[in-house]
Amino acid sequence: MKYKVLITFNLFKEYVNKVKEFAEVELWDKETPPDKNWIIEHARDKDGLLVSLTNKIDKEIIDSSPNLKVISTLSVGYDHIDINYAKNRGIRIGYTPEVLTETTADLIFGIMMAVARRIVEGDRIVRNGEWKIPWTPDFLLGYDIHGKTMGIIGMGRIGRALVRRAKGFNMRVIYYSRTRKEDVDAEYVDLDTLLSQSDFVVLTVDLNPSTYHLINEERLRKMKRTAFLINGSRGKVVDEKALVKALEEKWIAGAALDVFEEEPISKDHPLLKFNNIVLTPHIGSATYDTRYKMAEIAVENLRRGLEGKPMIYEV
Ligand code: DGY
Repeated sequence: MKYKVLITFNLFKEYVNKVKEFAEVELWDKETPPDKNWIIEHARDKDGLLVSLTNKIDKEIIDSSPNLKVISTLSVGYDHIDINYAKNRGIRIGYTPEVLTETTADLIFGIMMAVARRIVEGDRIVRNGEWKIPWTPDFLLGYDIHGKTMGIIGMGRIGRALVRRAKGFNMRVIYYSRTRKEDVDAEYVDLDTLLSQSDFVVLTVDLNPSTYHLINEERLRKMKRTAFLINGSRGKVVDEKALVKALEEKWIAGAALDVFEEEPISKDHPLLKFNNIVLTPHIGSATYDTRYKMAEIAVENLRRGLEGKPMIYEV
């Protein structure tokens, strides 16, 4: 029997074809995500949903789909899915961790270097014809990476991948997470110590009710004036209003963000006015190799879930 599957984002064609090998497929093939009504209307008779983090899968969508057995997401994060509600209905959830760990850590380390060494700012200056003097001792001075302290909040796979990179740069690494990890080559500290000692406060936590606006005004004020905030996890972990205030009043030296409270960030967002901030459009896992691996796993999770077999990665 062929299962019925709804794909709610523009999945690579070759992977749509793979789903067609075991299911009848309905597909959203535009780049902008579908609205909720479209999903509700098309999910009604489906056994499986293949979704991305741009599709909010809430109670109403789950309720509108009485046959639903599997939701497979092409992402490591699953805050866009009402997991508890789905699980109570016996729906299995697949996701794609591990394959994106190193790629995402590369990007986080990259934006951290970019902001501290003013790489993007320098590029803008060159392009805008603002580079007037060949060299002066005080032009575009930034901050060192090597020898500094990286404070990682959240110590999962990406946190560990960052520890390895930081050690290669001869950094001191401290971390805070709900539980102390015995096998991590970094010093466990409480959150206040991390905030007050780090030159780079790096966020790698999941978004859940306990991490929503974890970085708020009070915590930004605890950071060093020479420190940078780096976020490659989820935008809502940072209270952006407080971050704007921190940058305006120079409580911190700058920030590098790959994720935002609302994505895409609006073009008149107050964060855009600062030079000491690097902004990238949620591209942590965006390499050819990694996105194709994520697609492979998401499709395989879906197939195995529908066939009642253990998934590669199940929430
Ligand atoms: C995820 O997978 O959750 C990332 O944010 C995008 O790859």
